[in-house]
Amino acid sequence: MEKVKIFDSTLRDGEQTPGARLNREEKLKIARQLARLNVDIIEAGFPVSSPGELKAVQAIAREVKGPVIAALARTIREDIDAAWEAVKYAERPRIHTFLGSSEIHMKYKLRKDPEVLLNMGVEAVKYAKRYTSDVQYSLEDATRSDEDYMCRVIEAVIAAGATTINIPDTVGYAVPEQFSRLITNILNRVPNIDKATLSVHCHDDLGLAVANSLAAVQCGARQVECNINGIGERAGNASLEEIVVALLIRRDYFDKYKTDINYREIYKTSRLVSSLTGIPIPVNKAVIGINAFAHSSGIHQDGVLKEKSTYEIINAELIGGKAAQMVLTARSGRHAVKHELQEMGFTLCGDEFEEFYQSFLELADKKKEVFREDLEALMADRLAYTAPTFVLDYLQTVSGTKSIPSAVVRLNKNGETFVATDCGAGPIDAAYNAIDKITGLNPRLENYNLRGVTEGRKALGEVTIKLTYQDKTILGRGTSTDIIEASVKAYLNGVNKLVLLSGLNGNGNGQKEKGL
Ligand code: KIV
Ligand code: ZN
Repeated sequence: MEKVKIFDSTLRDGEQTPGARLNREEKLKIARQLARLNVDIIEAGFPVSSPGELKAVQAIAREVKGPVIAALARTIREDIDAAWEAVKYAERPRIHTFLGSSEIHMKYKLRKDPEVLLNMGVEAVKYAKRYTSDVQYSLEDATRSDEDYMCRVIEAVIAAGATTINIPDTVGYAVPEQFSRLITNILNRVPNIDKATLSVHCHDDLGLAVANSLAAVQCGARQVECNINGIGERAGNASLEEIVVALLIRRDYFDKYKTDINYREIYKTSRLVSSLTGIPIPVNKAVIGINAFAHSSGIHQDGVLKEKSTYEIINAELIGGKAAQMVLTARSGRHAVKHELQEMGFTLCGDEFEEFYQSFLELADKKKEVFREDLEALMADRLAYTAPTFVLDYLQTVSGTKSIPSAVVRLNKNGETFVATDCGAGPIDAAYNAIDKITGLNPRLENYNLRGVTEGRKALGEVTIKLTYQDKTILGRGTSTDIIEASVKAYLNGVNKLVLLSGLNGNGNGQKEKGL
């Protein structure tokens, strides 16, 4: 069987999803999980884009062992220097440089002659080779490029030392048959192609990213670039989980290829990426959506009860999900909670577990029956946790048909207590206004999402919001059985991140409670 390398770009192209910005700690958490998933290459970021990004990639390179750690760079020395600075401590560092090859990109974006650009690509590869032997070259917008020109570029950059050649369908324009032809032609026409691994990177603008990637594998591509949950620029990139599960489930058809993916880590990785980026997984998403293993119609349920294979081709346990769940209550005890967490792939010990257990008890007191989805939401809270500057101490809101929505909020900051009251369009707006009075910040609420984590009236509500302040956009997340409290927790989670990110002090007009 031939190995297909899985190149994960969740932390680079995936992070280009609007609103999905991750901080260093969040990127590290995802990178550690990608290593457990056993991807071959982690593209950790685009280091020249900001000093924070460089530091985040550097932290991943220093800590995460196993996969190759790659960093993206344009064909500019400054970018390549930054990429190397970021990955140089990795066990196996890679510099990934790219340049447009389509007429549209060359004429309108790059505004340079094709021969000048070919030479820039060659020089960039040579420059990157001074740092590392592992250099990847991507021909941006390859699927709208002239094939003859592309073949000349590929031959030249391989001669300059590129060890992986990536063919991106940058705008998701390709269709499988045509993409297969392109890959076959490159393999037949470029004389030194055997000196490099051929890779593909497909975007999903026409919903064909996974189909195009699989078609390319069948024609000889041996590296596939893809992202967890299919997140990425615009409509996203090919979904990692869909590609690897298709290769496995249809091994009768894809009989020559294998990946080294640790399938049981898929579910957990998918949930982690969703909770840290704040991008929900559509319920009907192939492989990982919550409906992917649910049977609704009576005919289907009847069939599955008689014989699973009638309507089920993927077993939830394959990807680390579990169909049958235990229902926990406040009396379940530590052992049962720990066991359920382990089944979900989380290992918490000592104080960490005890803290989690206390939040479980709090929830179990409120809603009596705790499901796996609730534990997931509590875990996501922990993962989204940012050491808070402002801590919610007291919240009271008033709302109703004839009353003016108002809120009293009390927050603690470094041992001091601040209190503010305000009114608003509704109780959540009122509480947010009161918080703004205390912090002195007034971030713009770009997006607000509320979802019931489980069924039923006592369900935990999960609020995810997107806030913009000055040039920063961040996500906040909070859960509670009280949706106003969940909304306030999400807002404070976001505000605390902004305070940390911007080095803001966050001291507004809220009155100090001492002296009130
Ligand atoms: O879509 C694209 O072309 C890219 C390249 C940088 C590989 O993301
Ligand atoms: Zn891309």
